[in-house]
Amino acid sequence: MTGAGAAGAARRLGPVVRLAPAKINLTLAVVGRRPDGFHDLHSVFVPLSLADRLSLAPGPPTGVDSLHVDGPDTGPREDDLVLRAIAAARAAVGTGPGRPATPPLAARLEKRIPVGAGLGGGSSDAAATLDGALEAWSAELPAAARLRAATSLGSDVPFFLAGGPALVEGRGERVTPLAGLRGDPEPPGVLLVTPAVHVATPDVFAVFAATRTQGDGSVRTTSAHLAEELRAGLSARDLVARAAVLAAANDLLASTALVVPALVPFRRALARVLGRPIGMSGSGPTLWALYRTVADADAAADAVRAAVAEGAIEALGDGPPGVAASAILTGPASTPGRQP
Ligand code: C5P
Repeated sequence: MTGAGAAGAARRLGPVVRLAPAKINLTLAVVGRRPDGFHDLHSVFVPLSLADRLSLAPGPPTGVDSLHVDGPDTGPREDDLVLRAIAAARAAVGTGPGRPATPPLAARLEKRIPVGAGLGGGSSDAAATLDGALEAWSAELPAAARLRAATSLGSDVPFFLAGGPALVEGRGERVTPLAGLRGDPEPPGVLLVTPAVHVATPDVFAVFAATRTQGDGSVRTTSAHLAEELRAGLSARDLVARAAVLAAANDLLASTALVVPALVPFRRALARVLGRPIGMSGSGPTLWALYRTVADADAAADAVRAAVAEGAIEALGDGPPGVAASAILTGPASTPGRQP
């Protein structure tokens, strides 16, 4: 970012705006437990067109960082990853001679991604905030410092900082871009169905650790195979053709089913109505189905809403499930999430 000073001064006239995309895990292999208590993963992540919108404007010079959220409740504001990400960015920039000033920021978040759903919304907001705050301050950080700050905010945050489909390994800090998912002539579509139950990721990993409910290593094999294919080149048609094997390629499925037993018949009912393999994103509870196009996913969304209304799919939790069609983003943006 040469000439960041002059460009930054011009940019500060308006807010910095970022789109923070959702993700799904096409595969999720848990390959071991780490000494720090986290688990080592091998997972193919893809970003979606479904996105939150974040803007960061200069706050009152003598004030503190602030956050206003439109949309679903995200829980106590002080815990919100947006405010934590601003603080992490400020700490990483540091203070002292030669360091840019890091004045307070007023953040505004339009929340569209369901919260606590396995879609990475909070992590994506954090990555967008980290990147946006640095731009708002015309500050630069070495890649290693950005990665450290991202990892400190959550295991999924480094993926969102990188942008684009990727193989995610380690706790989440090893992100290898997979540039070979093709969106021609149209990007693949995905149907997202989010039951109205909260699933806490630590609970699912705790059950996993206690029961060792992982499979026989086949998920790891599927994950490695998909990563290889996505490196080499895969069309929407090829991706959808692999849906059955991908839908089973999540080592957390059994653990999430122990945490939320009602998810098992719900998933079965969804598969029956759609006649498609149904996968789970992350630790759930969001379930996904893959389609050649977003229009096909949209038609499937209508079918699910009708099935819920008729009782063919029984809602679980506090109400009807969230149902949304989205596109899988096939390549990295030149600058992730950045708005023109
Ligand atoms: O890093 P994050 O806050 O997203 O992780 C939430 C919880 O999920 C962690 O406290 C840990 O219990 C579990 N986890 C894990 N291994 C990972 C990622 C998350 O055990 N790679």
